[in-house]
Amino acid sequence: MSIRPILIHPDPRLKKVCADISAITPEIAALAQDMLDTMYDAPGVGLAGPQVGVMSRILVMDCEKSETAPRCPMVLINPVITWESDVQNVYEEGCLSIPEQYGDVTRPAEVGVRWLGLDGAEHEQAFDGLWATCVQHEIDHLNGKLFIDYLGPIKRQMITRRMEKLKRERARE
Ligand code: NI
Repeated sequence: MSIRPILIHPDPRLKKVCADISAITPEIAALAQDMLDTMYDAPGVGLAGPQVGVMSRILVMDCEKSETAPRCPMVLINPVITWESDVQNVYEEGCLSIPEQYGDVTRPAEVGVRWLGLDGAEHEQAFDGLWATCVQHEIDHLNGKLFIDYLGPIKRQMITRRMEKLKRERARE
């Protein structure tokens, strides 16, 4: 088990488009496990490669919120949204790279996603509820987009200034 440091916004690596992963190697499997460990430790419901400084198209998530239900870890490599519902959903999103800041984001309520699994096979599945919000938020990370990019400029700048202050404080510790 290895917890990796999570990059905090603003960071140029959080603004870049990530590259496809060409093969499932033992290194990718180890990265996926580290990312899940890091996500559960935070705790959070999703984490994307660039948030741990890996500029590759990989994300992990587990939106099973019930304390009594078993964990439901998912690893998506090279995920692609194949369809979106016309029905939209508003969810108050947060992000492990923007700690303790939240904002309402409107996204399709349901999406279809195709991805490569750690088993090397192609998977396709529909997501709804928090899972749909989360998978779209994490795929955005792979394209250098953050949830605050959906907010108005004043709120976005306010959050960014708070994060700059947080990073200065952490650097002094
Ligand atoms: Ni995020």
